[in-house]
Amino acid sequence: MILGMVGWRGMVGSVLTNRMREENDFAFADKVIFYSTSNPGGAAPALPNGEPVLLDANKIDDLARCDVILTCQGGDYTKAIHPQLRAAGWKGYWIDAASALRMEPNAVIVLDPVNDAVIRESLKNGGVDFIGGNCTVSLMLMAMDGLIREDLVEWVSSMTYQAASGAGAKNMRELLLQMGSLYGSVKDLLADPKSSILEIDRRVSEQFRSPEFPTAAFGAPLAGSVLSWIDKDLGNGMSREEWKGGAEANKILGRPAQPQPGSLIVEGLCVRISSMRCHSQALTVKLKKDLSVEEIEAKLAAANPWVKVIPNEREVSIRELAPSTVAGTLSVPIGRIRKLAMGPEYISAFTVGDQLLWGAAEPLRRMFRILVD
Ligand code: HSE
Repeated sequence: MILGMVGWRGMVGSVLTNRMREENDFAFADKVIFYSTSNPGGAAPALPNGEPVLLDANKIDDLARCDVILTCQGGDYTKAIHPQLRAAGWKGYWIDAASALRMEPNAVIVLDPVNDAVIRESLKNGGVDFIGGNCTVSLMLMAMDGLIREDLVEWVSSMTYQAASGAGAKNMRELLLQMGSLYGSVKDLLADPKSSILEIDRRVSEQFRSPEFPTAAFGAPLAGSVLSWIDKDLGNGMSREEWKGGAEANKILGRPAQPQPGSLIVEGLCVRISSMRCHSQALTVKLKKDLSVEEIEAKLAAANPWVKVIPNEREVSIRELAPSTVAGTLSVPIGRIRKLAMGPEYISAFTVGDQLLWGAAEPLRRMFRILVD
């Protein structure tokens, strides 16, 4: 079996490649070919079963040698290359981080701890396109798995706190530059404990508006602020990121599109905040029946090995339900679970997850393992 890796040098691709090395995934291929759009002929990453030179990621004949292609090269690449490969008769498995093919009728959005049955059914029926989901959707489904798999949820409202990494590597850099710029504008005043906080704040506000303040990537200040819109404006009051919540969640679960009977209603607002790589979500959930908090927590905790229920107490919530704690791990903590005043079926929850791991790379490498195990 020949595995082709495309877009392995970017941020998601690097996280994916590192995870595949950690889990020894490459050993499951007879041969691994690394492709490049910019440097074909250059040296490929060293692997015992790796092709030593990079092949051209835009050459259909070269790509068609693979049985499985794993790509993190982005949606434009997928749109340009995937149809050509299929038109050339390529029957291999295409595993993709980009959103371009997600809603195609024959594609499956992969998140195997949650939708292993959907994936295996598709494989049985000859499915060949397996696409990673939107990060907030995947992380919410991992966290809420225990309730959703028993069909106990009528609807979920997800108010997101999304990290800079979801917008890209240059956005993460810009976030830190913005933080540095704000700090730099008040460094002298901060050094003096007697300086006026209102003067410090005035200078920070001035710095937000300064032409030197770095906003090329985000288009606005994120450090010290929030961005209340993520991705495209669909023209109906909804952002594309918000649309993905309902559309992708139901596709992942193999359910009808919302709001049809049998669907899971997912709604909410998506907001960018100044965390680096972990998305957080404040959930309001309407259950189909009145369960005790203990029952809810037990179901959530038992659903998959990565979800971690955090008791709804102050210290442990602050410590565990935090991007700074979760970053770089596969843990998906969920906590702040309590009954709401709206009625016994309504609960709150708060969940955090690494947007680059379970939100992007992990479902892809696990799909590869499903194919080879
Ligand atoms: N669209 C997401 C975000 C990341 O902007 O945070 C990718 O799923």
